[in-house]
Amino acid sequence: MTDKTLTMTFDGGEQTYPLLSGSVGPDVVDIRKLYPDTGMFTYDPGFTSTASCQSAITFIDGEKGILLHRGYPIDQLAEQSSFMEVAYLLLHGELPKKNELDTFTYTISRHTMLHEQLSTFYRGFRRDAHPMAVMCGVVGALSAFYHDSTDITDPLQRMIASHRLIAKMPTIAAMAYKYTIGQPFVYPQNSLSYTGNFLRMTFGVPAEPYEVNSVVERAMRRIFILHADHEQNASTSTVRLAGSSGANPFACIAAGIACLWGPAHGGANEAALNMLREIGRPERIPEYIARAKDKDDPFRLMGFGHRVYKNYDPRAKVMQQTAQEVLDELGISDPVLDTARELEQIALKDDYFVEKKLYPNVDFYSGVILNAIGFPTEMFTALFALARTVGWVAQWNEMISDPEQKIGRPRQLYVGAKRRDFVPVDKR
Ligand code: CMC
Repeated sequence: MTDKTLTMTFDGGEQTYPLLSGSVGPDVVDIRKLYPDTGMFTYDPGFTSTASCQSAITFIDGEKGILLHRGYPIDQLAEQSSFMEVAYLLLHGELPKKNELDTFTYTISRHTMLHEQLSTFYRGFRRDAHPMAVMCGVVGALSAFYHDSTDITDPLQRMIASHRLIAKMPTIAAMAYKYTIGQPFVYPQNSLSYTGNFLRMTFGVPAEPYEVNSVVERAMRRIFILHADHEQNASTSTVRLAGSSGANPFACIAAGIACLWGPAHGGANEAALNMLREIGRPERIPEYIARAKDKDDPFRLMGFGHRVYKNYDPRAKVMQQTAQEVLDELGISDPVLDTARELEQIALKDDYFVEKKLYPNVDFYSGVILNAIGFPTEMFTALFALARTVGWVAQWNEMISDPEQKIGRPRQLYVGAKRRDFVPVDKR
């Protein structure tokens, strides 16, 4: 709380509300008493001006293009830390000491296998099912298998559920992929890193040893870290809203996966690569730029623009550099990367994009990397879900242990019919 206030005047009165200050970032007006004081609600579709909670996990300054996890800049984490360190940091608030990291890594590795019966669950899906459809179903179904970690009032059960979700997500995603291509599921190998294990479960086969390529492993680690958390985005808010009713964590994360699937959110990486492929060659870029600017055309440059970033997304910078590294290592010359770079250059100089502060976001280059590694486009959003699970469980745990937590229940501006009497069908 600060001693600053905001006074609102309206027909019939004036009310003063306190301003709350965070450790960094804009103050927020505490309008919790607005309705009892005035009988009015606020109206903010899309929550463009609304802080829905307080959080100590992630800070974004969209104007300056800054992203911090527990205070640490994302580029430092992407460059210097392991995914397990970032997961620990997000969950517990501090970077782990060596022994804490070892224990955490060991604990996560002990939860990588799925209940064997879940593999029969997969067989209920069509082979051409989208991996996100499978992920929604299988993750939601975890609540039917792990009853000993669904009591959300018990902090120990909450932490076990969190470990299970982080540990099992790579197995679930890899199995979704294996199922669509008709290959046998590959069991986890706990001596490998989190990312190495995931690559082996995805691209390995039981008939041969699988060697993890260190450049690819590093690229995957960076991609996972860059996607681990992003403050109160749509899917995280969905997880929090679902969790606010007391729903179990597996159900809440399934809700987050459903929200992430949309093309305006996690589905943008798939859409961005499809768009780059459709553009095909740099000469066609002006045509697509013109379409993106045309008010009568619903087309948007996928991988461009962000609700919060009005500057270069700091994650996109790391992605761009990683894309080049992976292509060099794998000896791939992909015209899609050239198209992406050229498109970025043209858009960044175009008045429309400059005025609206539209810059490449995390999804603009990630598709190029994932494609080079060998993931089909349908898997891209599943990888996003895998990595974001860490942020979702951290945010969910924070919410459940917040003494101010209440069931999320927004109000509305009602614009429908006023009270009227029922008319029997023969009189309508
Ligand atoms: N291409 C062309 N015009 C755009 C784009 C774009 N990618 N993004 C925004 N605009 C325009 C939009 O038409 C609007 O113009 P006007 O003011 O004239 O009506 C203005 O910019 C503001 O757009 P908005 O839709 O009101 O902004 P928003 O904050 O609601 O939307 C967004 C943010 C990310 C949904 C949007 O920029 C978008 O659809 N981008 C493409 C999809 C994408 O890349 N999504 C990934 C986001 S990052 C990963 C994640 O968080 O999941």
